[in-house]
Amino acid sequence: MTVDEQQEAVPEIKKNEHESFTRRGFVTAAAVVVGGAYAAAIGYPIYKYLHAPVDQAIAEAKNNSIELKDADKLPMGSTLTFMFKQHPALLIHFDDGTWVALTAVCTHLGCTLSYQSPSPLIICPCHGGQYDPHTGKNVGGPPPLPLTKYDVQVLAGKVVVTQA
Ligand code: FES
Repeated sequence: MTVDEQQEAVPEIKKNEHESFTRRGFVTAAAVVVGGAYAAAIGYPIYKYLHAPVDQAIAEAKNNSIELKDADKLPMGSTLTFMFKQHPALLIHFDDGTWVALTAVCTHLGCTLSYQSPSPLIICPCHGGQYDPHTGKNVGGPPPLPLTKYDVQVLAGKVVVTQA
């Protein structure tokens, strides 16, 4: 190969290197974009899964009351079960016209409670724990603590239950 031929070959080599770099750069950029898309596709649901309880806890912390629409029409001697702060709760309208709201989670092992008026007791179906439906006080069986009692406001068209 003569010197002239070598000089002509040099630009060809540079051209090939330039093309090679461009192809490599494109492949690298494509890999970054695809990798980022995969990471986002996998990471976002995980982030939402892990962050959702935090969002919920923040929302609950701000919301210490619940409005039960049309619950003011609950007949005397009836009970309404509703969810309050992610737990079942009881709204009891006694025969004497008084209202009581209690958590419906047994303080023994967490079984869900129900109440049939005019029974003198709320009885846990799991181990027979007994509570006073007017106060939530634990009066028999294994429950170590009373039920949480909520404030009740009866308004036109709704009942507002508030945790003190
Ligand atoms: S869970 Fe209610 S008495 Fe045991």
